[in-house]
Amino acid sequence: GRTEKVAVIGSGNWGSAIAKIVGQNVLDKPGFDKEVRMYVYQEKVNGRDLTEIINTEHENVKYLKGVKFTENVVACADVGEAAAGATLLIFVTPHQFLGSLCKPIKGRCARGARACSLIKGIEFDANGPVLISDIIKKKMGGMDVSVLMGANVANEVARDEFCESTVGYRKEANGRAWQRVFDCPTFRVSKIKDVAGVELCGALKNVVALGAGFCDGLGLGGNTKAAIIRVGLGETIQFCKMFYGGIKDQTFLESCGVADLVTTCFGGRNRKCAEAFAKAGGKSGWDKIEKEMLNGQKLQGTITAQDVAKVLRKKGVAHKFPLLSKIHQIAFEGAPVTDIVKF
Ligand code: NAD
Ligand code: 13P
Repeated sequence: GRTEKVAVIGSGNWGSAIAKIVGQNVLDKPGFDKEVRMYVYQEKVNGRDLTEIINTEHENVKYLKGVKFTENVVACADVGEAAAGATLLIFVTPHQFLGSLCKPIKGRCARGARACSLIKGIEFDANGPVLISDIIKKKMGGMDVSVLMGANVANEVARDEFCESTVGYRKEANGRAWQRVFDCPTFRVSKIKDVAGVELCGALKNVVALGAGFCDGLGLGGNTKAAIIRVGLGETIQFCKMFYGGIKDQTFLESCGVADLVTTCFGGRNRKCAEAFAKAGGKSGWDKIEKEMLNGQKLQGTITAQDVAKVLRKKGVAHKFPLLSKIHQIAFEGAPVTDIVKF
């Protein structure tokens, strides 16, 4: 087959960790162009352009400090330039910044290019929830879009600690192609023909993680958190089956399902910020907490909680999702944090 050229669109905490893996994989495996371009939203760090720092020190000192890229990972501040000639596009920006990026990519990537979304979030329209992968597909003129989701806290992945991840695909050949891009001995990738199931697991677990963080902030122990995780998984499965056909039960047992839920509820940023929110008695705003605790990194669970609540209310089914609804009420409607166990 032809030589594949991979581009990474995004360079935050996860974007950088995955660029490290992909940069190494294209060197280790045949059939790949050896350069991996990475789109970087330009900013100054200690008076220098972040792209310049990455391209000389091979480290994203702001979002993934202490971890080196292989030298074939090249930072570009222009997204069109980053995508130029790419046959495989990895979308890994925080969900709120995706909007304006697709158009310049569409004009520059290779004909027949395929995409993979690592973005955890959800949108909605008048008919109900809309997958981020479907938004990308539409904006990219019908391009095939797979997804990669899993129990993958970025800092741990970047330290090469063993973990698993899941590719959700529509076309078998593309699922295989993406598995080859990401899989390595410390990052074991399986695949399943279920884009919607894999993606919705990734989006909804961030909301459940807010509930887990509330429990931590209240000083509650493992039993309570386990209950939040169990009920959260149940509501995730229910949500998937209510809004999408063809969801596979096996998906919930893959890394993208129960495993991502567990790791995020113990080690994620959504959990951490929700703990701070609970400790402040629910009186500190999310933007302030995010700014103070994450140094430019972004929460996805708060946005997703709002989008999910809107869909559930519009469809008149909020009462069937007591935990997801309760998390939203605590996070955004002034319900007491102690209500987290009243679902
Ligand atoms: P992040 O949370 O580190 O966000 C910071 C990124 O956003 C930086 O690249 C920054 O340049 C960019 N940014 C900030 N303001 C911007 C603007 N106005 N326009 C465009 N870009 C801007 O990002 P991340 O951790 O790479 O997360 C990307 C996606 O991957 C998210 O959907 C997240 O849920 C998902 N994810 C994250 C992890 C993780 O552990 N970090 C793991 C799996 C999946
Ligand atoms: P947080 O965004 O809560 O850190 O979750 C990271 C993640 O998605 C792990 O797979």
